[in-house]
Amino acid sequence: MSEDVLILAIESSCDETAAAVVKNGRECLSNVIYSQIDLHTLYGGVVPEIASRKHIEKVNQVIDKALKDAGVTLDDITAIAVTYGPGLVGALLVGVSAAKAIAFASGKPLIGVHHIEGHICANYIENPTLEPPFHCLVVSGGHTHLVRVEDYGKYTILGKTRDDAAGEAFDKVARAIGLGYPGGPKIDKLSNEGNPEAIVFPRAKVSDNVYDFSFSGLKSAVLNYLNGCEMKGEEVNRADVAASFQKSVIDVLVSHSMEALAEHHASKFAIAGGVASNAHLREAMETACKERGIEFYHPSPILCTDNAAMIGAAGYYEYIAGTRSGYDLNAIPNLKLGERA
Ligand code: KG4
Ligand code: ZN
Repeated sequence: MSEDVLILAIESSCDETAAAVVKNGRECLSNVIYSQIDLHTLYGGVVPEIASRKHIEKVNQVIDKALKDAGVTLDDITAIAVTYGPGLVGALLVGVSAAKAIAFASGKPLIGVHHIEGHICANYIENPTLEPPFHCLVVSGGHTHLVRVEDYGKYTILGKTRDDAAGEAFDKVARAIGLGYPGGPKIDKLSNEGNPEAIVFPRAKVSDNVYDFSFSGLKSAVLNYLNGCEMKGEEVNRADVAASFQKSVIDVLVSHSMEALAEHHASKFAIAGGVASNAHLREAMETACKERGIEFYHPSPILCTDNAAMIGAAGYYEYIAGTRSGYDLNAIPNLKLGERA
């Protein structure tokens, strides 16, 4: 036991208050997630002030439960890892303050973790053989990044979104067709009943970087289509809209990812982030990878959306690389991947 590295990880960047204990970066001993989704659904999206207040209420409870579920005490923990950006500043501050207090009181090292690095590292938990280099597409509510993982903790961003994130587009389109928040899982489900070829929505290309994404035009195209139907008095087939919109997003995500893999002669590809739990995206990526002889990795849906186990995995690799944060660690809402504060 003494050689094992046990990370107590905390995540509070958006609307999940989460804590986990992760052993040696790969083994999840506990993974406690308190989701605030029901609170925010009422408002059609995350309300930052409500999120912060709920994090304060829940953070100690989820940490206690994570230790208890793992069957350990704070004494057994090697280091404390916490998401310090990007995310909502008030929400991040709750996790960062809790982590600093625990690190200070226990004398254990503190490690600030980048949220997107966490999403990528979620893949290490269920895929013990996955090692860099590999490519990873991170698709969440706030981010759409196509990344080359050169080594543990070393990332090259090949492309990212110029406007809306993929998950944001899902949420906005879901709202427009009356599905409510969060839209991703609802569009995923409803599209099973629709025809993805029914409506042709645009697949945007960004001219100066072929790997960059743009989803705001697609969102506008869906809104225009809905307005057009209303003006003509035509009934909207919501399942067809959901399936056709989703197909447009997936086509772009798959084509960009496959082109980047080919250009870099890469043989391993992973997906991560909330949108990576989309069943149709997973299937399309699986097929595309199989056709090209590429190894495909994806976390279970519960490790795709926000959780602390992924922060524990990332925290482990930062820990063994010697990363240590001071008690002046602060929340950085727009922290860039690969940047350290
Ligand atoms: O990674 P995540 O939990 O939080 C961020 O870091 O942003 O991602 C949340 C996003 C939301 O936009 C949600 O609608 C989307 O992931 N999402 C999905 C699915 N499940 C969650 N999008 C498409 N299909 C899904 N099944
Ligand atoms: Zn996230």
